[in-house]
Amino acid sequence: MASLAAVSLAACAAEPEVAQTTPPSATVDQAPAEAVGEILLGPASEILVGSGNKYQIDEMLTILVTQPKAGDFRGFSATCTHSGCIVQGVSDGEIACGCHGARFDQETGAVLAGPARTALGRIAIELRGDELYAIL
Ligand code: FES
Repeated sequence: MASLAAVSLAACAAEPEVAQTTPPSATVDQAPAEAVGEILLGPASEILVGSGNKYQIDEMLTILVTQPKAGDFRGFSATCTHSGCIVQGVSDGEIACGCHGARFDQETGAVLAGPARTALGRIAIELRGDELYAIL
């Protein structure tokens, strides 16, 4: 008995193959574990669109808040994932580390240029009135 596994290959030769690429994940679980709660950072008006401000919370945590688009605030651990320097801030639309030149996306913290290979840790930011809070 022959099995009836007739396979019909549709004429798909005309369609080009699409390369299977996986975009880098923007999900990072590097929020500091020690401090839990919310921290008042300061007035949102201090951060110009396309720039960022750093807030040193303690010896272990400095938070970088960026505003890539008006009213859209993003928070990151300012500790570079390459070797632990505190990033300089936003320069030419990218988060820059001055130690060895790593660059990160100001919206996602994703690595744009090495030597860092891991995205900056994300920190939730809330805007209440004109005040920015970090939620840890
Ligand atoms: S510590 Fe930031 S690039 Fe090396």
